[in-house]
Amino acid sequence: IKTLLYYFLIWVLLLLVAAASAKRFTRCELARTLKAAGMSGYKGVSLANWVCLANAESSYNTQTTNRNTDGSTDYGIFQINNRWWCTNGQFPSHNGCRVSCSQLLSDNISASIACAKTIVNQQGITAWVGWRNRCRNRDVSQYIAGCGV
Ligand SMILES: *[C@@H]1O[C@H](CO)[C@@H](O)[C@H](O)[C@H]1NC(C)=O
Repeated sequence: IKTLLYYFLIWVLLLLVAAASAKRFTRCELARTLKAAGMSGYKGVSLANWVCLANAESSYNTQTTNRNTDGSTDYGIFQINNRWWCTNGQFPSHNGCRVSCSQLLSDNISASIACAKTIVNQQGITAWVGWRNRCRNRDVSQYIAGCGV
């Protein structure tokens, strides 16, 4: 019975670790983080548009994954695709960002930001369906309102 208790405690500990590594940014926290990483105006995309994009794609949740109809998967706060930009070691990938997809789920979003810069450099902001559907031609100023950025 001691052994059972031991396993139970380890299980509780693992749950706590898993909960701690899932991060949902607040709107302003993300705005500040993106600004500090040089995303404001990057490739002509305003900070408010980047925040709107992240809201549309992941609701600011770093652990978001979604499967696409072609079998590929989108990862993280910017929903970066594993056919083109990151690799999970299984799905065939061009791995344009030279990054492992799991790094794009970290609560440290610097790898996601670096990859988003690569994507916008090569394809422009219209690469993101969420941006096209929910941010393009809209007043996005609300996304950074009151954030002091
Ligand atoms: C986030 O990751 C980058 C690159 O891996 C690293 O340089 C930086 O120190 C990390 N930031 C934090 C707060 O851990």
